[in-house]
Parts: sequence; structure tokens; C-alpha cells
Amino acid sequence: MRLPFTSFRLLAPMEGVTEPCFRDLVLARNPPDALGGTFTEFVRVVDHALSKASLGRHLGPTRHVQPVGLQLMGSDLAAVAETARRATELGARVIDLNFGCPARGALAGCAGSALLREPRKMEALVRACVAVVGDRPVTAKIRVGFDHDRDVEVLARAVEAGGAALLTVHCRTRAEGYCERVDWTRIARAVAAVSIPVCGNGGITRHSDFERMQRETGASFAMVGRGALADPWIFSGRRVDAAEAAHFLVEYVDALRVSGGASLGGAVARVKQLLHFWTAGGLVDGDRGAWLGERDAERVLARLSALRAGAASRAG
Ligand SMILES: Cc1cc2nc3c(=O)[nH]c(=O)nc-3n(C[C@H](O)[C@H](O)[C@H](O)COP(=O)(O)O)c2cc1C
Repeated sequence: MRLPFTSFRLLAPMEGVTEPCFRDLVLARNPPDALGGTFTEFVRVVDHALSKASLGRHLGPTRHVQPVGLQLMGSDLAAVAETARRATELGARVIDLNFGCPARGALAGCAGSALLREPRKMEALVRACVAVVGDRPVTAKIRVGFDHDRDVEVLARAVEAGGAALLTVHCRTRAEGYCERVDWTRIARAVAAVSIPVCGNGGITRHSDFERMQRETGASFAMVGRGALADPWIFSGRRVDAAEAAHFLVEYVDALRVSGGASLGGAVARVKQLLHFWTAGGLVDGDRGAWLGERDAERVLARLSALRAGAASRAG
């Protein structure tokens, strides 16, 4: 099945981050040949299908050249499949299934990474969605295992057998959480085990890593998570200065307040979440602690606005 992504570089789904405001800003800064598509944060499905209103909020109002896949996490076949069907009616161009979330809530609901211990169930979930979404691709994102990587081939084949059009492999096990060390040979093993395209994920921190991921693993696509929180321009590889970096963050605050309905405090808290990772423009280099320690949201915004104004005065 043809995948709608416009480049091999993809932005990972991230809960609490890849909501519509953040996605729109990143998509606007990286042309389709640099960033091929992205995903919503995971949408949890428990025992009944979600409403179109709720799915619409995750998909957001803006449509881009690049597709935004809707990611679902759940284990109830009927509820997940019906949610997937509704999402395609709403215009979701890709349905992605989450088999990697390590959170306790997911485990308690036997969803996310809990399903890594049940490859048959994974396969059934993929198949149930494929059966109802017509010509839209169903994709799946796995970790390489729950507490070891020995069965990564079994997991990859289960996703393929269910009829997925793409398999994303996050190269850490559930037990490894978000550890720094990555082993991309695990992705190469998944690539060798299936004939569907594979997207490699885990440990991409700079622009050149996307191609290195392809070269070293044979993956068709490469996906970045936290590297894009450090530098939203990572897809194009463009280097920005502090003013342009600050402009992104000020726009993010504005977007969260205007279309996301956030308070100033809530919006600045989101910005600070990014500042934990941020490297673009050298904005917080050597000063991260002070940025993160500032409790007054007005002062954070004023500091960012002053840095942004540096750009405006230079441009003028
Ligand atoms: C804050 C945060 C939220 C995440 N939320 C999701 C999610 O909703 N769905 C998902 O499949 N993975 C989620 N992940 C995992 C990422 O998609 C990605 O697999 C992981 O960060 C590894 O890639 P990286 O090393 O490039 O960060 C999340 C990761 C982070 C850091």
C-alpha cells in the first residue's frame, strides 16, 4: 500500500507534546521534502469507541501537505477498530497503533507495551483496523520487546501478518525506558524479518543521523522524538540563531493560548518542557537551569520576546 509520507524523515508521536499547536509550528518550518509526516500523541481507547469530536481535537483544524497519523492505544478490538473507522471518516490519512507505551496506566489496561507480550493480540488489533479503514494505511509502532529483545522478529512479523503498511521500531525495550544507549542492530533485525517498510526510531540527535539510520539498518524511514524537541529544524538541518529559536517558542505560547485555550502559566509550562531538551540557536546554552527555575511565566515570556526582538531589529 502506498504510504502518504513526503520524506523519509518523520516526527514521532509524543504525549503532551505533539498536539496540533506544536505540530503546526514544526510542519511550517520543515518543507515536505525534509519532514515527511507526523503523528498525534497517543489517543487512549478503553472499552468504547471515541467520539469524532474528541478525535477531531487530536487531529486539529489545519491540514498540511504532510500527513498527520492518528495514533491509537488500546486493547479492545472492537473499540479500537471502530475508533479507527471514525478517524478515517474524519480525514485521518494514517492510523497508527501504539505497542510501546511503557506507562503504568497502559500496562494496567493491557495496552501499549503490555501487548509486546501478546503478539497474537497485536496482530489481531492490526487486522481489525485494516478491515475497517478502507484504503488508509494502518501502521504500528513497537518497542523491541518488553524486557529483552530476543523476540523482535516475532513482533515484527505479527504486525506484518496483521496487514500493517509500515512498522516503526523504537530500538529500546520497555525495561530500558528512555536510556541513552541505543542498539540499532535490533532495528536491522526487524528489517530483515519482514517485507513491509520499517521506520527506525531511537537515538537520532542530529540531522545526519536520519541517513545514518537508513544506512546502518536498511530502514525505509527514520523517526525522531526528543531530538526534535531539542531542535525543531532537525529535519531540514537548517541552523537557526537565538532570535529565530525564541520566535518559535513565543509563537508556541501564542498558539497554545489562542487555539489551545491554555492559560499563560499553562503555555509557559509547555515551553519549559521543551527547554529541558532545547539546543536550537544556543538559546539556553549554559543557562538552562535559570530558564527552568524561573517560576514567573510573564518573565519567561518577556525574556523570550526580548530575544526574538533581536531578530526583528536586525532584520529592520
Ligand atoms: C514526552 C514523550 C512522550 C511520548 N509519547 C509517545 C506517544 O504518545 N506514543 C508513542 O508511540 N511514543 C511516545 N513516545 C516515544 C517516542 O515516540 C519515541 O519512540 C522515543 O522518544 C524514542 O525516540 P527518541 O530517542 O528519538 O526520543 C514519547 C516520548 C516522549 C519523550
